Amino acid sequence: MIRDLTDDEARRALPLKWGTMPPDVLPAWVAETDYAWAPPVREAITAAVGAGLTGYPTFESGGELGKAYAGFAQRQFGQEIDPAWVIPSVDVTAGVRFALDVLSEPGPMVMPLPGYPPQLGIAEVTGRERVDLVLDADAEHAEIDLDGLDRLLAAGARTLLLTQPHNPWGRVFTRAELEGIRDVVRRRGARVVADEIHAPLVLDGSPPHLSYLSLEDTHDHAVAVVAASKAFNVQGLRCAQVIAPDPATRQRLLDAPMARNDSWSPLGEVAAIAAYTHGDEWLTALRSRLSSQRDLLVRLLAEHLPDARMRPLEATYLAWIDLRAYGHDDPAAVALERGRVQVSPGHDYQPGLAGHVRLNIATSPERLEEIVRRLARGLTGAR
Ligand SMILES: Cc1ncc(COP(=O)(O)O)c(C=O)c1O
Repeated sequence: MIRDLTDDEARRALPLKWGTMPPDVLPAWVAETDYAWAPPVREAITAAVGAGLTGYPTFESGGELGKAYAGFAQRQFGQEIDPAWVIPSVDVTAGVRFALDVLSEPGPMVMPLPGYPPQLGIAEVTGRERVDLVLDADAEHAEIDLDGLDRLLAAGARTLLLTQPHNPWGRVFTRAELEGIRDVVRRRGARVVADEIHAPLVLDGSPPHLSYLSLEDTHDHAVAVVAASKAFNVQGLRCAQVIAPDPATRQRLLDAPMARNDSWSPLGEVAAIAAYTHGDEWLTALRSRLSSQRDLLVRLLAEHLPDARMRPLEATYLAWIDLRAYGHDDPAAVALERGRVQVSPGHDYQPGLAGHVRLNIATSPERLEEIVRRLARGLTGAR
């Protein structure tokens, strides 16, 4: 069911991930998959383009998109959502910024690091300070440090940006972990913006995704931002969703000046509705492919880069790899120069962090094998 794009197709379909690469470089960086659209999504997009759907979207919240997401959340996560809670936004990062801007008190925003690079600047553009909750690179297990969170909130931070499942930690936080976070946040009267874009991408053997909003006593202080874009590879079509269950919170978002919530695309809306309504079977196949890619990566690293360290990848197709043992501050630059493979440098996710990379496994097994071979060739000189 999952069809791998050929190199030529990938260059045309993914202008950033593939199109910007010199022909001899294999891309394993930007968070996009090298897979063709799910058939129901392809049919919906091509029909919409055929019908000339390029006008402004309606300003509706809830609606068809809300209904489609509510059905998806119910089937995939066992989460009850009222379609009226669903407010479109152009993309997840803009949805996070919108929520922060409109809902949060002006104090600093806590960002767990390493974190998604475009969101490192999000506090600042809303006039807030970013305060970091840094994961110990040597920690066996990647966890939110509750004491650290408590200290930052006690010192004046007002919002936690909680990405879960987490990129690049690859973690699916458990109910107990999420409840621990909620208890600290509530005690300090703070707010949570939950970036749940990777929720559909929980891999085999991991605990299920639990939206922060499905915990008790969260609706008064939290919204989640979700999208079909990452799982269904329609990032360029621009449509995410802010989930705001609390009526007063939702009204504040809906009343915000139009310029605060960049408008989304009608094609993105069509793709999201098709993905959420008819995409389950394909999504199951995708998770199964990604789970076997993850297992393959573990075997390939053991063979070619035995001193690489990787915590279990529970979700996402983005592996966070500690390569400090190979002695390069910037292993991504070395791998590009000597191995002709593009992975993402760890210091983009945590300024100043040496020796780490993020590697995208959402490709064919053959390409993944070549990616790891090239990485090893770059870092160790191995053939
Ligand atoms: C945690 C996280 N949020 C957001 C995004 C990007 O989503 P968007 O393009 O909708 O802002 C990514 C992309 O990798 C991501 O990992």
